[in-house]
Amino acid sequence: MKIINKAEIVDLLEQEKSLSGPLGFRHSNGLLKKGMNKKINEIAGFSEQILKMIRKFGKKKEIVFLECSCGKSYLSFVLSYIFERESNTIPYFFGVDTNRGLIQKCEETRDVMGYNNMVFNHGRTIDFSADRKIDMVIALHACNTATDEAIAKGIKVGAKYIMVVPCCQGQLRSQIKNHHPLTSVTQFGLLRSKFADILTDALRSQFLMGNGYYVELLEIVPPKLTPKNILISARKIKNTSKRNLEEYYQLNNIFKTNFSLQEYFCEQPLNDDRACAC
Ligand SMILES: C[S@@+](CC[C@H](N)C(=O)[O-])C[C@H]1O[C@@H](n2cnc3c(N)ncnc32)[C@H](O)[C@@H]1O
Repeated sequence: MKIINKAEIVDLLEQEKSLSGPLGFRHSNGLLKKGMNKKINEIAGFSEQILKMIRKFGKKKEIVFLECSCGKSYLSFVLSYIFERESNTIPYFFGVDTNRGLIQKCEETRDVMGYNNMVFNHGRTIDFSADRKIDMVIALHACNTATDEAIAKGIKVGAKYIMVVPCCQGQLRSQIKNHHPLTSVTQFGLLRSKFADILTDALRSQFLMGNGYYVELLEIVPPKLTPKNILISARKIKNTSKRNLEEYYQLNNIFKTNFSLQEYFCEQPLNDDRACAC
């Protein structure tokens, strides 16, 4: 695969009308829409990390993606385009979103581009089921707890890779006002908000580690372009027998949150000895 870095993918999106046209990145006169610059950079930065992961660890010829909260599925279309042009790997894409209109739009774009390796589903990520084994779960800016649904779905289907760039994170802000040792930080609304974002991503990362994933956090674009630039990149590791959710519980016990990611596992035992608390 030749195209690997972010700058090359940005170039591709800016130069290749057969890709950026159907994705709606151009005006009817063919000029690139200025307002798409941020989205193009986010897609390029995220795709770069996905391609790196596959190049380094993906041994399979066929790789099945699930894009959660796919919206117009920009990410899947760009990846499909790159794989078709540059790689021997055969990708297959599922997309899921709660917005029926956007799912219809994805189907139209797929037909325009002539891709028969894509299926789109209307519904919640957590309710999605596929007739193929999912290798990689991806989600770009899945709102609030929709990112947790993507992580939960990835763990439940045993995806080898789970890569998510979270969006707004509202769930913990109101939960960490008091009753923990860092109230002198969280008493200030602005700091509480930033701290809630950090705590949310830390809990997500610990939860993934406790479920047998090696986790790295990276920035896909500079923070001045968007503060929603953190990628949680998780790769399933083979020997998971000694891993458990102790660190996740330790962190969560300090702040005593009701963290939604954990709740998606209440119907089955977690990778831990203790019973589910809900
Ligand atoms: C900010 S948009 C991001 C769309 C796309 N990933 C992108 O980056 O352009 C968030 C999307 O999440 C979808 N969504 C929200 N909650 C969802 C859920 N529980 N399951 C699936 N999709 C969801 C919305 O319909 C919306 O399309």
